[in-house]
Amino acid sequence: MKKTTRVNHPPSVAVPAGNTPVVAPIYQTVKFEFETVDATLRALSGEQPGFYYLRSSNPTTRALELTLAELQGRDDCLVCASGVGAIAQTLIALTRQGDHVLCFLESYGPTRFLIRRLLARFGVDHTLLSVEDLDGIERTLASRPTRLVIFESPTNPINRIADIGGITRLARAHGALTVLDNTFAGVHAHGQFPVDVYLHSLTKFVSGHGDVMGGAVIANAALIATLRADFSALGGVLDPHAAYLLQRGIKTYFVRYRAQCASAQRIAEFLAAHPAVERTHYPGLPQHPGHALACAQMSEFGAVVSFDLRAGAQAAARLVESLQLFAMAASLGATDSLALPPQLLASRDLDPQQQQRAGMAAGTVRLSIGLEDVDDLIADLQQALDGIQTERNLE
Ligand SMILES: Cc1ncc(COP(=O)(O)O)c(C=O)c1O
Repeated sequence: MKKTTRVNHPPSVAVPAGNTPVVAPIYQTVKFEFETVDATLRALSGEQPGFYYLRSSNPTTRALELTLAELQGRDDCLVCASGVGAIAQTLIALTRQGDHVLCFLESYGPTRFLIRRLLARFGVDHTLLSVEDLDGIERTLASRPTRLVIFESPTNPINRIADIGGITRLARAHGALTVLDNTFAGVHAHGQFPVDVYLHSLTKFVSGHGDVMGGAVIANAALIATLRADFSALGGVLDPHAAYLLQRGIKTYFVRYRAQCASAQRIAEFLAAHPAVERTHYPGLPQHPGHALACAQMSEFGAVVSFDLRAGAQAAARLVESLQLFAMAASLGATDSLALPPQLLASRDLDPQQQQRAGMAAGTVRLSIGLEDVDDLIADLQQALDGIQTERNLE
């Protein structure tokens, strides 16, 4: 073999039977081959197991899918290149011209963007309500055939709690699918409800380290089977190396998530008691309007804490700028704490009245709590809030 051939056909090193790697290796390959055309065709038609092309499946991404499905309490999953990819591909695969979709003011902005801008171009209509308006949800479902209801709990960025039992009951009664973006609550949460499809941004708590993107769609096997061909054609697949990093992140998922939630609770209590803070949005606080529902639905209350600074938008921007331990950055769920001021949080597709109905105030700040010592985080918030108070006293 010439050297130019050898570099393209390196010696293969087989791991002997009974000699297994403790950490599963990454199958960083786009292609798999069989010995014969027949075997290839049998694998492609599903008659025999096997892998052919990464856009359809790969052992590393498949291992992640099976792990996520089990954590969420369903039997199958498709992973995607990002959380938004998972949302977009699900919406496209589940809807057709003439369908009606129910969505909410309290949701991640790009979800509404996809429905209101993209699906609308293909003749899919929508109704936009507040996720707390159960009567409105019932009236809408009763008044027009609805393909799906897409919602979150807790919602981004205000932490409103959706009545998942109520919404799934109404949707089932009226023949609509329920799609729950479960990113804030986590991949272990809300499996007890008859939700049809769970969506996740794996970029957040599953990765946990802010260094890899991914998304997941989790449902029963029959529903996932109906999505599989469309997902492969749409092409937003997860790379095996990203899948490997996500699988690695999952090993510490529960330890991280619970520690971050415990710190979030302490920080929410600190903020709620601070005179510069008008309102603290954290479902673990007894005074939060969704507290009782959250206690019934969740085992932890999440690692995102939002609050309204009395002094308004400009002061909120300065407050975030003066934080030392919180990076002013998008995303959430990683080991390092983050803060976003209202200028970077507001959804541009909502008018001021809708922003207000969605719970956004002029001085709303969103914190994502990481794994730093909680006393250090509180001290940092204290110094930033003191700075704002001093500014106000000097005015
Ligand atoms: C609730 C929610 N869903 C989906 C996404 C999108 O995830 P990704 O950034 O992985 O595309 C985000 C991102 O912030 C989110 O907060």
